[in-house]
Amino acid sequence: MNPLNHVAIIMDGNGRWGLKYKNSRNAGHKAGLNTVEKIIKETIKQKIKYLTLYAFSTENWKRPKKEVNYLFNLLENFLINRIDELHKKNIKLRIIGIKKFSSKLNTLLNLSEKKTAKNTKLQINLALNYGSKFELINAFKHLSKNKQKINEKNFTKYLQTKNIPDPDLLIRTGNTKRLSNFLLWQLAYSEIFFEKKLWPEFNENDYSKIIKNYRSIKRNFGNI
Ligand code: FPP
Repeated sequence: MNPLNHVAIIMDGNGRWGLKYKNSRNAGHKAGLNTVEKIIKETIKQKIKYLTLYAFSTENWKRPKKEVNYLFNLLENFLINRIDELHKKNIKLRIIGIKKFSSKLNTLLNLSEKKTAKNTKLQINLALNYGSKFELINAFKHLSKNKQKINEKNFTKYLQTKNIPDPDLLIRTGNTKRLSNFLLWQLAYSEIFFEKKLWPEFNENDYSKIIKNYRSIKRNFGNI
């Protein structure tokens, strides 16, 4: 049975779900947050140590301002209302991405990371204003500036995922098969599952089924 240390998720399909059932994309994001809570619970139950959630990409700024503002408000309220509970559950929150938000959100994110920094049950990496191409170019720039030898060990020190093991499993919901500039380096050997359901309708049973399936795969890492 494959060990499972790190699950990464592209939570796609909020907008379509919201439009279909509530005539509002933002209602889909709100419903998507309920799925986030269910998945966190199941991740703990499955004793998985790292969960990385793609919440906002560097490309998502192209969306209408109303939707972008709604998403960040949702996140602010989530942190204000839930960070104590996450902390009590021994969950560590880490942000990956470029932390350039409103001063209120920047402060909230920094406080949340600081508060939960020593927690050990589960580490949630929230990818916010995250783009893999930016991350890779940034790492190359650091290597070249510091005149360091180009090798895997030195390179990964400059990634935003420093000290986080690569994902074993990537799940993308929403019936779309692409990586959308997410963890392009880190996913080199991950098992990838594309799920038809939209994120708000994805639940702990769907998640457990994927995990069960993942566990039965023979992972070769280039070997035979
Ligand atoms: C992609 O669906 C989803 C997002 C860009 C946002 C993800 C946000 C959440 C799940 C809720 C908030 C989470 C936190 C942690 C506060 P989409 O809008 O691209 O869907 P579509 O493909 O149907 O348009």
